Amino acid sequence: MPGPMTSVKVKSPSKTSRDAPARNADCETCHPTITAEWRGSLHQQSYRDPEFLRAFRREPLPFCRGCHAPEADPRRPPPAELADLGVGCVTCHQPEEELLAAPRDEPREPGPHALRRAPAFAGVDACAGCHEFPFPGRGADALMQRTIQEHAASPARARPCADCHMTLRTDPERGGAPYRAHDFRSTRDLAQLRAAVSIEARRPAPDRVELTLTTGDVGHAVPTGDLNRRLAVTVRVIDPVRARPRQHRYLGRRFEARPGPGGVLVREEVADERVFPGEPKRVRFELAPEDAELAVEWSVTHQRVESFLSADERSAVVAGELEIAAGRLDPAPSDIIQQERSTP
Ligand code: HEC
Ligand code: HEC
Ligand code: HEC
Ligand code: HEC
Ligand code: HEC
Repeated sequence: MPGPMTSVKVKSPSKTSRDAPARNADCETCHPTITAEWRGSLHQQSYRDPEFLRAFRREPLPFCRGCHAPEADPRRPPPAELADLGVGCVTCHQPEEELLAAPRDEPREPGPHALRRAPAFAGVDACAGCHEFPFPGRGADALMQRTIQEHAASPARARPCADCHMTLRTDPERGGAPYRAHDFRSTRDLAQLRAAVSIEARRPAPDRVELTLTTGDVGHAVPTGDLNRRLAVTVRVIDPVRARPRQHRYLGRRFEARPGPGGVLVREEVADERVFPGEPKRVRFELAPEDAELAVEWSVTHQRVESFLSADERSAVVAGELEIAAGRLDPAPSDIIQQERSTP
């Protein structure tokens, strides 16, 4: 499962560690600020997260437990204390005996425990083993998540994941010393999500609407991670007389079910319409001629899809969504680029 160039070993899912909760409790006693952030993070919640549990009920494979309850034996349901631990301090910092930490330029007060300062732990390797992987039983050409490759192909490739996802904060418990944050809030944080994509909306002709999506400070596709994420782009004519349906476009990865080995249906990726860093994405809508004189409203929303009930993307069950931006365009043809952001 871990990438081939991983020089820091991520814990192998077949290795079980019943003592992990006790070791983790030790870390928690001495590192209260980081512990408070980790508690309630999606890492700590990885086997309790209701969205994971709903998906897992639909596809209850031992494979899933390997990452979502990484300290437990994936072949059977995890004991409660390992399900509660999720991705623990010890999962990332202590995949083997040694305690891993990032290298430091300046000397630091030594802790009460030995550390191995590994350059790889300050890089992509600290995340790669879990944030990129193929569908169960398949190879590198059938990836369920591929954030690591997206990052390697992006203009931010020289910046480690921690640069953006573990920002520096100051620790009141330690006299305001700077430390790396551990809450990994990401797209659940509206401000961070909004900073990730900017939208320009224009009406190049009375019957046309064009939205251009450009990524901001992001190191991979938007959205990334779970395969069912997407951006929903909508346009609706504002008709004073009767309510009108929205037109939709979905920017995500598209899969089709195809017969695999032994006739079992497997998901085959047929298109990837997400927004990539350095590649602005243009989405065009056409209006009926009689609507050319009406104003339109538009929106761009980040959606976490729980399941697709049919080939009709509009019927997807959405587990959570956040509006990135919305606005209105008047009918007059305009070269004026309107960029509007909604406020929460
Ligand atoms: C008895 C208290 C204690 C325990 C238990 C403990 N630590 Fe520490 N740790 C410290 C102190 C004190 C330091 C040095 C000051 C600092 O950097 O926070 C430190 C330093 C560290 C550092 C290096 C910070 C740097 O300089 O880059 C890491 C990483 C770390 N601890 C992780 C852990 C993990 C993971 C565990 C559990 C396996 C753990 N610690 C258990 C007290 C403790
Ligand atoms: C042992 C496996 C593992 C490692 C190592 C790991 N993660 Fe995760 N990460 C997960 C799992 C599992 C989840 C999802 C939990 C859930 O939502 O059910 C997750 C969730 C996240 C999220 C939240 C995504 C969201 O939907 O909001 C971010 C951001 C993230 N990880 C970043 C990182 C970064 C950066 C690193 C490296 C410093 C890292 N992770 C290392 C397993 C891991
Ligand atoms: C230049 C900054 C930057 C770098 C580098 C970066 N990310 Fe992100 N990441 C973001 C932003 C901003 C978001 C929120 C927007 C989005 O969903 O893409 C995000 C979102 C995510 C999510 C949540 C996906 C979702 O839709 O909820 C995961 C998981 C993630 N990143 C993992 C990683 C990993 C792993 C790496 C390293 C390989 C990495 N990121 C590198 C900025 C960055
Ligand atoms: C998802 C993986 C992951 C988890 C879970 C995690 N850490 Fe970390 N931690 C890291 C990485 C990676 C770094 C180094 C970031 C850098 O400096 O590049 C780090 C840095 C640290 C540091 C040094 C912070 C600083 O900058 O001074 C301490 C201390 C630490 N972690 C303790 C903990 C404790 C305690 C827990 C559990 C409550 C925990 N970590 C959970 C990945 C993780
Ligand atoms: C190799 C590690 C790995 C395996 C195996 C794995 N996941 Fe995940 N999963 C992750 C990571 C990392 C994330 C976080 C990325 C994100 O949230 O976009 C995640 C996120 C998710 C999410 C999104 C949770 C949320 O809160 O948005 C769901 C749902 C999910 N996984 C279900 C599953 C199911 C079901 C399986 C088995 C079929 C599975 N995962 C197998 C690593 C894994």
